[in-house]
Amino acid sequence: MVENHWLPIKRLTPPNAANEAVVIWLAGPAGASEIPEPLWNCLSHDERDRTNRFFHARDRNLFAMTRAVLRTLLSEAANVPANQILFTEGPHGKPRLAGMEGPLFNVSHSGSWALIGMSDRRPIGVDIELTRKTGDELDLARSFFSNAEYRALEGLDDGMLLQSFYKIWTCKEAVLKALGVGISEHLKDFSVEWSGDRYAIATERNCLLPLLASAVAYPLNVPMGYAGCYALA
Ligand SMILES: CC(C)(COP(=O)(O)OP(=O)(O)OC[C@H]1O[C@@H](n2cnc3c(N)ncnc32)[C@H](O)[C@@H]1OP(=O)(O)O)[C@@H](O)C(=O)NCCC(=O)NCCS
Repeated sequence: MVENHWLPIKRLTPPNAANEAVVIWLAGPAGASEIPEPLWNCLSHDERDRTNRFFHARDRNLFAMTRAVLRTLLSEAANVPANQILFTEGPHGKPRLAGMEGPLFNVSHSGSWALIGMSDRRPIGVDIELTRKTGDELDLARSFFSNAEYRALEGLDDGMLLQSFYKIWTCKEAVLKALGVGISEHLKDFSVEWSGDRYAIATERNCLLPLLASAVAYPLNVPMGYAGCYALA
Protein backbone atom coordinates (compact mmCIF):
# COMPACT_ATOMS: atom_id res chain seq x y z
CA MET A 1 0.00 0.00 0.00
CA VAL A 2 1.18 3.53 -0.73
CA GLU A 3 2.49 6.01 1.82
CA ASN A 4 2.56 9.64 0.79
CA HIS A 5 3.52 12.79 2.64
CA TRP A 6 3.32 15.73 0.20
CA LEU A 7 -0.37 15.44 -0.60
CA PRO A 8 -3.05 17.23 1.50
CA ILE A 9 -3.93 13.93 3.17
CA LYS A 10 -3.72 12.19 6.49
CA ARG A 11 -3.78 8.44 6.92
CA LEU A 12 -6.46 7.29 9.35
CA THR A 13 -6.03 4.22 11.53
CA PRO A 14 -9.50 2.73 11.79
CA PRO A 15 -10.36 -0.51 13.57
CA ASN A 16 -9.40 -3.70 11.73
CA ALA A 17 -7.81 -1.91 8.74
CA ALA A 18 -4.52 -3.84 8.94
CA ASN A 19 -6.26 -7.23 9.12
CA GLU A 20 -8.41 -6.38 6.14
CA ALA A 21 -5.54 -4.90 4.03
CA VAL A 22 -7.30 -1.55 3.93
CA VAL A 23 -5.88 2.00 3.91
CA ILE A 24 -8.09 5.04 4.53
CA TRP A 25 -7.01 8.59 3.75
CA LEU A 26 -8.66 11.82 4.89
CA ALA A 27 -8.09 14.53 2.25
CA GLY A 28 -8.55 18.25 2.79
CA PRO A 29 -9.58 20.69 3.90
CA ALA A 30 -10.61 22.16 0.58
CA GLY A 31 -11.14 25.91 0.70
CA ALA A 32 -11.57 28.82 -1.65
CA SER A 33 -8.05 28.58 -3.12
CA GLU A 34 -7.36 26.54 -6.22
CA ILE A 35 -5.61 23.17 -5.92
CA PRO A 36 -1.82 23.11 -6.55
CA GLU A 37 -0.80 22.95 -10.22
CA PRO A 38 0.77 19.45 -10.11
CA LEU A 39 -2.55 18.09 -8.87
CA TRP A 40 -4.59 20.00 -11.46
CA ASN A 41 -2.26 18.79 -14.22
CA CYS A 42 -2.99 15.12 -13.58
CA LEU A 43 -6.77 15.51 -14.16
CA SER A 44 -8.34 14.39 -17.43
CA HIS A 45 -10.22 16.81 -19.72
CA ASP A 46 -13.53 15.38 -18.50
CA GLU A 47 -12.53 15.85 -14.87
CA ARG A 48 -11.50 19.48 -15.53
CA ASP A 49 -14.84 20.10 -17.29
CA ARG A 50 -16.66 18.56 -14.36
CA THR A 51 -14.65 20.69 -11.92
CA ASN A 52 -15.57 23.86 -13.78
CA ARG A 53 -19.28 23.06 -13.62
CA PHE A 54 -19.42 23.36 -9.80
CA PHE A 55 -20.97 26.64 -8.69
CA HIS A 56 -19.19 27.05 -5.33
CA ALA A 57 -15.38 27.33 -5.14
CA ARG A 58 -15.15 24.96 -2.17
CA ASP A 59 -17.14 22.22 -3.95
CA ARG A 60 -15.09 22.74 -7.11
CA ASN A 61 -11.81 22.49 -5.23
CA LEU A 62 -12.94 19.53 -3.13
CA PHE A 63 -13.92 17.51 -6.20
CA ALA A 64 -10.71 18.38 -8.09
CA MET A 65 -8.48 17.76 -5.07
CA THR A 66 -10.11 14.42 -4.29
CA ARG A 67 -9.84 13.16 -7.87
CA ALA A 68 -6.23 14.35 -8.20
CA VAL A 69 -5.22 12.80 -4.87
CA LEU A 70 -6.97 9.58 -5.86
CA ARG A 71 -5.07 9.55 -9.17
CA THR A 72 -1.77 10.17 -7.39
CA LEU A 73 -2.34 7.40 -4.84
CA LEU A 74 -3.44 4.94 -7.54
CA SER A 75 -0.49 5.92 -9.70
CA GLU A 76 1.91 4.97 -6.92
CA ALA A 77 0.06 1.74 -6.16
CA ALA A 78 -0.21 0.67 -9.81
CA ASN A 79 3.09 2.21 -10.95
CA VAL A 80 1.47 4.20 -13.77
CA PRO A 81 1.68 8.02 -14.25
CA ALA A 82 -1.25 9.75 -12.54
CA ASN A 83 -2.55 11.35 -15.74
CA GLN A 84 -2.63 7.95 -17.46
CA ILE A 85 -4.89 6.26 -14.92
CA LEU A 86 -8.11 5.21 -16.67
CA PHE A 87 -11.39 4.78 -14.83
CA THR A 88 -14.43 2.79 -15.75
CA GLU A 89 -17.70 2.46 -13.84
CA GLY A 90 -19.81 -0.39 -12.51
CA PRO A 91 -23.49 -0.65 -13.51
CA HIS A 92 -24.51 1.79 -10.76
CA GLY A 93 -21.71 4.30 -11.29
CA LYS A 94 -19.05 3.00 -8.88
CA PRO A 95 -15.66 3.97 -10.36
CA ARG A 96 -12.91 1.35 -10.65
CA LEU A 97 -9.60 1.05 -12.49
CA ALA A 98 -9.80 0.19 -16.18
CA GLY A 99 -7.34 -2.12 -17.86
CA MET A 100 -4.80 -2.38 -15.06
CA GLU A 101 -4.18 -4.13 -11.78
CA GLY A 102 -4.46 -2.01 -8.70
CA PRO A 103 -6.30 -1.61 -5.44
CA LEU A 104 -10.06 -1.50 -5.10
CA PHE A 105 -11.08 1.98 -3.99
CA ASN A 106 -13.93 4.30 -3.15
CA VAL A 107 -14.24 8.02 -2.38
CA SER A 108 -16.67 10.29 -0.59
CA HIS A 109 -16.75 14.08 -0.18
CA SER A 110 -18.75 16.46 1.97
CA GLY A 111 -18.20 20.05 3.10
CA SER A 112 -14.42 20.56 3.08
CA TRP A 113 -13.26 16.97 3.48
CA ALA A 114 -13.00 13.77 1.51
CA LEU A 115 -12.32 10.13 2.32
CA ILE A 116 -10.42 7.81 0.02
CA GLY A 117 -10.49 4.11 0.90
CA MET A 118 -8.24 1.52 -0.74
CA SER A 119 -8.42 -2.20 -0.29
CA ASP A 120 -6.29 -5.07 -1.56
CA ARG A 121 -8.88 -7.81 -1.09
CA ARG A 122 -12.51 -6.87 -0.52
CA PRO A 123 -14.61 -4.24 -2.31
CA ILE A 124 -14.65 -1.09 -0.19
CA GLY A 125 -17.11 1.74 0.38
CA VAL A 126 -16.58 4.98 2.31
CA ASP A 127 -18.87 7.79 3.34
CA ILE A 128 -18.30 11.15 5.01
CA GLU A 129 -21.08 13.61 5.83
CA LEU A 130 -21.08 17.09 7.28
CA THR A 131 -23.49 16.80 10.20
CA ARG A 132 -26.03 19.60 9.83
CA LYS A 133 -29.05 19.89 12.08
CA THR A 134 -32.12 20.48 9.96
CA GLY A 135 -34.83 19.29 12.34
CA ASP A 136 -35.95 16.80 9.67
CA GLU A 137 -33.85 13.90 10.94
CA LEU A 138 -36.76 11.78 12.16
CA ASP A 139 -38.79 12.41 8.99
CA LEU A 140 -35.79 11.39 6.87
CA ALA A 141 -35.25 8.32 9.03
CA ARG A 142 -38.91 7.34 8.60
CA SER A 143 -38.61 7.70 4.83
CA PHE A 144 -35.17 6.16 4.20
CA PHE A 145 -34.12 4.00 7.16
CA SER A 146 -35.49 0.62 8.29
CA ASN A 147 -38.22 0.44 10.95
CA ALA A 148 -35.69 -0.78 13.53
CA GLU A 149 -33.40 2.19 12.81
CA TYR A 150 -36.29 4.64 13.01
CA ARG A 151 -37.39 3.16 16.35
CA ALA A 152 -33.83 3.40 17.70
CA LEU A 153 -33.75 7.13 16.87
CA GLU A 154 -37.25 7.99 18.15
CA GLY A 155 -37.11 9.39 21.65
CA LEU A 156 -33.40 10.38 21.58
CA ASP A 157 -32.61 13.92 22.72
CA ASP A 158 -31.51 16.40 20.03
CA GLY A 159 -27.73 15.93 20.41
CA MET A 160 -27.88 12.14 20.43
CA LEU A 161 -30.41 12.11 17.59
CA LEU A 162 -28.12 14.11 15.29
CA GLN A 163 -25.07 11.97 16.10
CA SER A 164 -26.92 8.67 15.80
CA PHE A 165 -28.72 9.72 12.61
CA TYR A 166 -25.43 10.46 10.84
CA LYS A 167 -23.81 7.28 12.20
CA ILE A 168 -26.61 5.25 10.62
CA TRP A 169 -26.59 7.33 7.41
CA THR A 170 -22.82 7.05 6.83
CA CYS A 171 -22.82 3.36 7.66
CA LYS A 172 -25.69 2.57 5.28
CA GLU A 173 -24.10 4.55 2.45
CA ALA A 174 -20.64 3.03 3.02
CA VAL A 175 -22.10 -0.51 3.01
CA LEU A 176 -24.07 0.04 -0.21
CA LYS A 177 -21.12 1.82 -1.83
CA ALA A 178 -18.93 -1.17 -0.97
CA LEU A 179 -21.44 -3.38 -2.80
CA GLY A 180 -21.52 -0.86 -5.67
CA VAL A 181 -25.31 -1.02 -5.95
CA GLY A 182 -27.86 1.79 -6.33
CA ILE A 183 -28.15 3.49 -2.96
CA SER A 184 -31.76 4.63 -2.76
CA GLU A 185 -33.38 1.29 -3.66
CA HIS A 186 -31.61 -0.72 -0.93
CA LEU A 187 -31.66 1.55 2.11
CA LYS A 188 -34.48 -0.40 3.76
CA ASP A 189 -32.99 -3.85 3.02
CA PHE A 190 -30.94 -3.84 6.22
CA SER A 191 -30.52 -2.29 9.65
CA VAL A 192 -27.32 -1.09 11.22
CA GLU A 193 -26.66 -0.74 14.90
CA TRP A 194 -23.66 0.71 16.68
CA SER A 195 -22.00 -2.06 18.70
CA GLY A 196 -18.65 -1.41 20.40
CA ASP A 197 -16.00 -0.68 17.75
CA ARG A 198 -18.02 -1.72 14.69
CA TYR A 199 -21.54 -1.72 13.31
CA ALA A 200 -23.76 -4.77 13.49
CA ILE A 201 -25.57 -5.28 10.17
CA ALA A 202 -28.87 -7.19 10.11
CA THR A 203 -30.61 -7.95 6.83
CA GLU A 204 -34.39 -7.71 6.52
CA ARG A 205 -36.28 -10.92 5.78
CA ASN A 206 -37.17 -9.96 2.17
CA CYS A 207 -33.72 -8.52 1.40
CA LEU A 208 -32.66 -8.90 -2.25
CA LEU A 209 -28.94 -8.43 -1.60
CA PRO A 210 -27.48 -11.63 -0.12
CA LEU A 211 -23.99 -10.03 -0.06
CA LEU A 212 -25.20 -7.72 2.70
CA ALA A 213 -24.98 -10.64 5.12
CA SER A 214 -21.16 -10.70 4.96
CA ALA A 215 -20.57 -6.93 4.86
CA VAL A 216 -18.66 -5.31 7.74
CA ALA A 217 -18.54 -1.61 8.67
CA TYR A 218 -16.43 0.50 11.02
CA PRO A 219 -16.61 4.13 12.13
CA LEU A 220 -13.88 6.59 11.16
CA ASN A 221 -12.29 9.32 13.20
CA VAL A 222 -13.10 12.32 10.99
CA PRO A 223 -12.94 16.07 11.85
CA MET A 224 -15.39 17.45 14.39
CA GLY A 225 -18.78 18.20 12.83
CA TYR A 226 -18.50 15.28 10.39
CA ALA A 227 -19.38 11.58 10.53
CA GLY A 228 -17.50 8.92 8.59
CA CYS A 229 -17.55 5.20 8.00
CA TYR A 230 -15.86 2.53 5.89
CA ALA A 231 -17.34 -0.80 4.87
CA LEU A 232 -16.19 -3.94 3.10
CA ALA A 233 -18.39 -6.23 1.02
C1 LIG B 1 -22.80 8.59 -5.32
C2 LIG B 1 -23.97 8.28 -4.41
C3 LIG B 1 -24.09 6.80 -4.33
C4 LIG B 1 -23.64 8.83 -3.05
O1 LIG B 1 -23.66 10.18 -3.12
P1 LIG B 1 -23.13 11.20 -2.05
O2 LIG B 1 -23.28 10.73 -0.65
O3 LIG B 1 -23.79 12.46 -2.39
O4 LIG B 1 -21.62 11.35 -2.46
P2 LIG B 1 -20.25 10.80 -1.90
O5 LIG B 1 -19.32 11.94 -2.01
O6 LIG B 1 -20.35 10.08 -0.62
O7 LIG B 1 -19.85 9.69 -3.00
C5 LIG B 1 -19.63 10.05 -4.31
C6 LIG B 1 -18.61 9.14 -4.91
O8 LIG B 1 -19.01 7.79 -4.80
C7 LIG B 1 -18.59 7.08 -5.98
N1 LIG B 1 -19.78 6.38 -6.50
C8 LIG B 1 -20.70 6.79 -7.42
N2 LIG B 1 -21.66 5.84 -7.56
C9 LIG B 1 -21.34 4.85 -6.71
C10 LIG B 1 -21.93 3.58 -6.41
N3 LIG B 1 -23.06 3.16 -6.98
N4 LIG B 1 -21.35 2.79 -5.49
C11 LIG B 1 -20.21 3.18 -4.89
N5 LIG B 1 -19.59 4.36 -5.13
C12 LIG B 1 -20.16 5.19 -6.03
C13 LIG B 1 -17.98 8.09 -6.94
O9 LIG B 1 -16.58 7.97 -6.83
C14 LIG B 1 -18.42 9.42 -6.37
O10 LIG B 1 -17.47 10.44 -6.44
P3 LIG B 1 -16.97 11.08 -7.80
O11 LIG B 1 -18.21 11.34 -8.59
O12 LIG B 1 -16.25 12.31 -7.39
O13 LIG B 1 -16.08 10.06 -8.41
C15 LIG B 1 -25.24 8.93 -5.03
O14 LIG B 1 -25.42 8.45 -6.30
C16 LIG B 1 -26.53 8.66 -4.32
O15 LIG B 1 -27.23 7.73 -4.60
N6 LIG B 1 -26.87 9.50 -3.37
C17 LIG B 1 -28.09 9.36 -2.63
C18 LIG B 1 -27.76 9.28 -1.18
C19 LIG B 1 -29.00 9.07 -0.30
O16 LIG B 1 -30.15 9.01 -0.70
N7 LIG B 1 -28.76 8.96 0.99
C20 LIG B 1 -29.79 8.75 1.94
C21 LIG B 1 -29.26 8.70 3.32
S1 LIG B 1 -29.03 7.14 4.01
